[in-house]
Amino acid sequence: MKAKLIVHAAQIATPVGHSAKRGREMDQISLTSDGAVYIEDGVIRETGSTADVLARLNGREKDAELISAEGKCIIPGFVDSHTHFIFAGYRPEEFVNRLAGTSYLSILKQGGGIQSTVKSTRRASFRELYNDGFSRMNSFLSQGVTTLEGKSGYGLDLETELRQLEVMKSLKGNHSCSLVSTYLGGHAIPPEYAGHADDYVSEMLQDVLPVIKGKGLAQFCDVFCEKDVFSIQQSERLLKGASALGFHLKIHADEVNNLGGAGLAARVGAISADHLLMASKSGIRALAASGTVATLLPCTAFCLNEPYADARTMIKENCAVALASDYNPGSCFTNSIPLIIALAVIHMHMSIAEALTALTLNGAAALDCADRTGSVEPGKTADLLFLQFPDYRFLVYNTGINIVEFVMKKGDFVWQREKRV
Ligand code: NIG
Ligand code: FE
Repeated sequence: MKAKLIVHAAQIATPVGHSAKRGREMDQISLTSDGAVYIEDGVIRETGSTADVLARLNGREKDAELISAEGKCIIPGFVDSHTHFIFAGYRPEEFVNRLAGTSYLSILKQGGGIQSTVKSTRRASFRELYNDGFSRMNSFLSQGVTTLEGKSGYGLDLETELRQLEVMKSLKGNHSCSLVSTYLGGHAIPPEYAGHADDYVSEMLQDVLPVIKGKGLAQFCDVFCEKDVFSIQQSERLLKGASALGFHLKIHADEVNNLGGAGLAARVGAISADHLLMASKSGIRALAASGTVATLLPCTAFCLNEPYADARTMIKENCAVALASDYNPGSCFTNSIPLIIALAVIHMHMSIAEALTALTLNGAAALDCADRTGSVEPGKTADLLFLQFPDYRFLVYNTGINIVEFVMKKGDFVWQREKRV
C-alpha cells in the first residue's frame, strides 16, 4: 500500500496513550494546529505539525500520496464498545407503552421486551441477520465508528446464539469497520428455563461457553445483572466460569436497580461495567480502584427517561469512563453518535475533551484494543475521522448533527459524505 501524508489539518485533536485515561487525565487531550499524519501500511508513523513532520521525514515522503486536510479537524475513529446490533424484529408498541408509563422491566416480566426479540431472532435466517447487520454497520461507519462491539443474547439457545455470533464473524471479514464479539447468553432467562435461572447458568457454563470458545466466536462474555433477571450470585458464577475458560468479561451493571453490579465487575476483574445509572458511591469507588472501565450509555437513559449515570462523580473519583450507544431494538433504538456526545456534554456535564476521550481511547480500552486504536499517534492503526469543521468542539456545538466528512480505516478512505451532483 502506498504511503499517505495528510497535511495542513486545521487541528488534530486526540487523547494520547495505549490504555484508558482515568479521572482528570480524560480532559487532557493533545491539540495540534496545522497538523500532519504520515501513514505507512495502514499504520500511523509520524504525527505533529506539518512543518515538524516534514522535517522528521526528511524526504522519505516523496513517494507518498499527499492529502490536504485544510479547514478540517482530524480525530481518532470512534469506538462504540456496547451494542446489540444483530437482531430481528422491532418493538415500536413497547416504546409507546413506555411513554405511557409502563416500565421496561415489567414489559420483560410479561414476556415482552428482550423475550419478544428472542422470538423473532430465533426465526430469522443467517442471511436476514447478516444483511441487516451489514447495513447497520454502514450506519455506524457513516458516523465515524471504526471499531464496533456486538453482542449475541437474542437467541438464548445454543443454535441461535451461535448463529448471531457466526453472522458477526462473517461480517468481520466483509466490512471495513472492525468488530469485536461478545457472548450475552445471560441476557434473559429463556422460556424453556422460566423459574430455573440457576440451571440455565449451568447450561451456559457446561454446554455453550466451551463451544463458543472452541470455535473462537467471542472474545467477551457479558451478563444482564438485574432484579428478576440474573442475580449477583448467578452473574458471579457465570462470569467466573467464563473467565476460567479464557473469556474477557463485561457486565450490564446497575442499569435499572442497584444490585451491586459495579462492585461485582471490579471483583471479577471485568474489562468494563456498563450502564451504571444506579451505581452507588461504593460501587463507583470500587471501579476507580480496579482496572474496570465504566462504560456509560446516555442514549439508554434518554430513551428510558431515567436519570443519567453520574459521570462527574466517576471522573472525580478517578474512574476511566467510556461512552457507547447500547444500540438495540428495545431500551435504546438509536446509534446516534452525535446524540451520545450531546447528552454526555450537555446533560452529564462531561467536557467535550472528556467525551472525545470516552468515545475513542477509553472505548478502545473497554474492548481491550487501546494498544492498537483509539488515538492519533505513531504505532496506532490509521483509523481517522476528518470533520467538516476546523475544531473538535463543533462535535457538540453543531448539536446532534453528524459532522464526519471522511472516514479512514487502516489508512484507506472507507466512507465519504455523499455529495449532491
Ligand atoms: O443494555 N438491558 C439489557 N439489554 C439491553 C436492552 C436489550 C433490549 O431491550 O432488547 C440494554 O439496555
Ligand atoms: Fe446493552
